Amino acid sequence: MGFCTWQITTLMIIFCEMFFLLSDAARDAIFDENYNVTWGRDHILFFKRGREVQLSLDHLSGSGFASKAYFGSGLFQMKIKLPDKDSGGVVTAFYLNSNVGVHDELDFEFLGNRPGKPIVLQTNVFADGVGGREQRTKLWFDPTTDFHYYKLLWNQHHIVFFVDDIPIRIHKNNKLKHDIPISVSKNNKLKGIGYPKRAMQVVVSLWDGSDWATDGGQTKANWSNEPFQAHFQDFNIDGCPSVTTAPNKDCYSSRYWWNRKNYRQLNQRQLKAYEHVRKMYMNYDYCTDRGRYPTPHPECIG
Ligand SMILES: *[C@@H]1O[C@H](CO)[C@@H](O)[C@H](O)[C@H]1NC(C)=O
Ligand SMILES: *[C@@H]1O[C@H](CO)[C@@H](O)[C@H](O)[C@H]1NC(C)=O
Repeated sequence: MGFCTWQITTLMIIFCEMFFLLSDAARDAIFDENYNVTWGRDHILFFKRGREVQLSLDHLSGSGFASKAYFGSGLFQMKIKLPDKDSGGVVTAFYLNSNVGVHDELDFEFLGNRPGKPIVLQTNVFADGVGGREQRTKLWFDPTTDFHYYKLLWNQHHIVFFVDDIPIRIHKNNKLKHDIPISVSKNNKLKGIGYPKRAMQVVVSLWDGSDWATDGGQTKANWSNEPFQAHFQDFNIDGCPSVTTAPNKDCYSSRYWWNRKNYRQLNQRQLKAYEHVRKMYMNYDYCTDRGRYPTPHPECIG
């Protein structure tokens, strides 16, 4: 999908890697190359000749778009500027979803708020249909005034959620190491440490989450402030194309730069930033919520 699929010589592959590490500037896909409107077409506007999209939400409808292809690994990113009004109850979502019965899903969900209160970033991981892995982070900047990058790295080793270049969450593929220590709880819900493996589609939407998103659903969208508008840029996708029915086994091959050594674990600088953000800004973690999970998810232990 990305720039590098075109390159064939070794020299060009090296150039490509540097290119991805150092610069986002020259990668310039327009919306139509990789994405398709899926919801609320009359609530969507395009700017900059297809390089910026505005989604709107009002009391009639929200709106959304999704990638044309499904992927089995990659670095997925979106530049987002959130609704700048009183946005209590309004949810802006950027996620990967396999869309099948027992499904895999990786979520960034921005939970709007009343003016002066922080917008909360909620992340979640579903694997084999099991979710309930919410974490919540306050942002250290105002996400409504400028575009910021939100990124999901997904390879065989880990899934990392980034805000700009700061890792805020890591979901490790422990199955890789310990060869599946499966623990089945009584309600049969927690089965080992789940790791997404189905092909997933990139999905973006702006919708009314009044019944849950802000103060547990007590703060509703205030329709006298409609329309709510979120803006999106960067429609490049660095992913390994796959399909849900027959996942592409090649998606973990080191042919793809995001599967290579540098991307298998965080470096020291990233780890430090990660620990700092977790300490200062994370305000909810499913792993420590014993009220909700008397038996914690297996990845929370040890
Ligand atoms: C694009 O979205 C429309 C629905 O809005 C759907 O009918 C069509 O199949 C989609 N195309 C692709 C390539 O996903
Ligand atoms: C909704 O917004 C209007 C206009 O800003 C404001 O006057 C009103 O108090 C708000 N309602 C609630 C419930 O906050």
